[in-house]
Amino acid sequence: MEYFISLSPWTWVMVCTLVLIATMSCFAFFSLSNPLIETKMLPEASSSRLPIVGASAQFLWHGPHRFIANQISRFQEFFKLSILGFDPIVVATSPEFVKFVLVSNHKSVFPSYPKYITKLLGINHENHSLKAIQINAISRKSTLATFSGENLKKNLPILNSLARQVVDSLQSMGTIFDTEGELLKYAIRVAIQLGWSEMVGTEEANKIKEELFKIQYGMLSIIRINLPPFTWNKALKASASFLGRIEEVMAKRREKGIQYNDFLCHVMEDDASVGKLSDRDKCAAACGPLIAATSSTSLSLTMVLKYLHDYPQVRESIKVEQDALRNQMIEGNSLEWFNWKTSMPLTTQMINEVLRLHSLTPFIPRETEKNMSYKDYNIPEKWLVWISPYAVHMNPKFFPNPMAFDPSRFQTPPKLGTFLPFGMGPHICPGKDFAMIEILFFVHHFVTKCRWESLRPNQPIEYYSHGRKLKGGFPMIIQRCG
Ligand code: HEM
Repeated sequence: MEYFISLSPWTWVMVCTLVLIATMSCFAFFSLSNPLIETKMLPEASSSRLPIVGASAQFLWHGPHRFIANQISRFQEFFKLSILGFDPIVVATSPEFVKFVLVSNHKSVFPSYPKYITKLLGINHENHSLKAIQINAISRKSTLATFSGENLKKNLPILNSLARQVVDSLQSMGTIFDTEGELLKYAIRVAIQLGWSEMVGTEEANKIKEELFKIQYGMLSIIRINLPPFTWNKALKASASFLGRIEEVMAKRREKGIQYNDFLCHVMEDDASVGKLSDRDKCAAACGPLIAATSSTSLSLTMVLKYLHDYPQVRESIKVEQDALRNQMIEGNSLEWFNWKTSMPLTTQMINEVLRLHSLTPFIPRETEKNMSYKDYNIPEKWLVWISPYAVHMNPKFFPNPMAFDPSRFQTPPKLGTFLPFGMGPHICPGKDFAMIEILFFVHHFVTKCRWESLRPNQPIEYYSHGRKLKGGFPMIIQRCG
């Protein structure tokens, strides 16, 4: 007894902390494996049952893609994962289960992005899920109205012209140290063109670029400390300034009564089916698609250029296809004939293969709104269900020799539910056609006009909590060839 009383205050703090951790571990351990809420125990990822840490150490150490790769051989349909001991997450790895969640039971789940992402998008955390659902509905509706269908078709000449201008300017640079950064600028320019009319060609557009750059790097950062000089702190400041800028533009448009036919004008419209949203929430609805439109496309395009570089035979066949189309693609042409699904078959197959191997989003996140039963399993309300496109894309049953880069496998369309770069079901990416066209037009001008050599041919791929990038930004030398 005397021994305990004579302990120093620091030792007491340590003892109390250990007791607290042990109590929380027991609580997490027992609550996560409570047999009452599962009809049949969901299979668990290795190390998932470690108190408090769960599978976090493995997950963080390997990165989401490699972590999933390690689990694929063990689980046929799904497995349960505990990260930091708090969230029970069901990770979906089979097309049947993916279809069950994203299509047949889409009304029992809703998109539920991690809080650090919604925070950057300006979504208020009070009443988080209801607001997030309304904001998501406005984002989706406005993206479809602007970046798909007839509106997209009408804008094909301008998209083609922007891709040509960007390729010309890259060519004149000769050496590019940060290809991915340059492609992000391209994607931002295109998004501003269709999304935010009064910014086109202005000085402010450069500030927006800077802000979107910082937000994107913030999303990829693992260390989220809100203090200078951390990336996370810069991203939060950039997001606040970006949201403020959108709010100002909305106020000015309303004051002057100017009508634009762009993405922001669709966001500003009230929609009775969604319910009334404040201007701040509408800014959040605008922010998400503008970030998605820029970061996902530029990361995918960087990977496409890397594969075109690394596989000369594929590059040659694509160059033949694109050279044949060159006369039809000259600026001013109405491009009425252009259908991205059929006009460039080899290039489309190649892009699909890159998206299969490098699905950008490690998970398509959902949260259950009510209990769901699948086969003999019960997934309780408020659980997270993460769809892993990577796990499905790496299944040899659907993609034989899955690690190999083989665009010809897309000569026949993949089976439903096996190819998920843009998701599936009612929430499938509304910007998917726009993204494909942006990539196709860029590849067209790039392969017909340029020869390029990577300055770091054996460049590793970096894994982040939310995505993957080429380490060092894929530096290269470009020369004119046509
Ligand atoms: C290569 C580029 C892109 C990839 C790989 C990609 C991928 C995805 C994925 C996997 C989702 C989740 C779907 C789901 O929850 O079921 C998504 C959602 C979304 N994407 Fe994209 N995307 C890309 C480009 C774009 C572009 C260019 C835009 C806007 C113009 C956009 C706007 C959105 C929006 C608004 C959502 C939310 C849809 C909803 O929840 O209903 N994306 N995207």
